Amino acid sequence: MNTTPILHVVENAADLVSKAADFIVSCAREAIEQRGRFVVALAGGGTPKPVYERLALPDLAGRIDWEKTHVFFGDERCVPPADEQSNFRMAREALLERVPLPEANIHRMLGEIDPEAAALASEQELKGLFRCERPALDLVLLGIGADGHTASLFPGTAAVRERERLVVGQYVDKLGAWRVTFTPVVLDAARAVLFLAEGSGKAGVVHEILEGAYRPDVLPSQRVQPAAGRLHWLLDRSAAAGLRTSGLASDQ
Ligand code: 6PG
Repeated sequence: MNTTPILHVVENAADLVSKAADFIVSCAREAIEQRGRFVVALAGGGTPKPVYERLALPDLAGRIDWEKTHVFFGDERCVPPADEQSNFRMAREALLERVPLPEANIHRMLGEIDPEAAALASEQELKGLFRCERPALDLVLLGIGADGHTASLFPGTAAVRERERLVVGQYVDKLGAWRVTFTPVVLDAARAVLFLAEGSGKAGVVHEILEGAYRPDVLPSQRVQPAAGRLHWLLDRSAAAGLRTSGLASDQ
């Protein structure tokens, strides 16, 4: 990989939750102090949910100026927002409805409409907020799948190779379903990216992504290399079990 990841390994899932939540608070405070607002993209899936719940508790939530915070999503399932599969629904229940975040600052992907139209709408919203063609989000949270996918960049799909669009609709054969996803264009423009992975089920793929040959078509998570930003990986000990850690900056 070209961008050297900064590796953080913690003891267990509970530590991962508190470290991730603290990390988000620091990013938010720094962004607001330096640029007057914090723009974050949330990940879906199971790993970040307890992180969002932690962030919603008063001790941490009280440290973020929510009026100056904007929330996007790195990907969405093509379902209505109230559907159990919806990433927006998960984030809303775990965090967004528990904190004083203005409705207008929530920029969800429209999973209920045509995926291509939803992707274009999301792209317009990004460009509109940033008033530029290559928005640099302050923080993008990402998970990884055991097959190496991240956001909804799945192995072998066109979305992984996208070089112009910020957001695309992508049919994923293995799921038999459409997704809307950020492309590497917007991921690579971020000021910081934080990958989260926990549990032994991710150990093999974490090793392949971080220490294996560069094969982004097979392991789309490898494609995320923020050119001018920081690339962080936060793992618990089980997810990090396959790593040699050589060549990686680590704080543990
Ligand atoms: C989604 C995601 C996806 C997720 C990974 C890991 O919509 O499902 O954003 O990329 O982050 O599949 O999911 P888990 O955290 O549940 O393992």
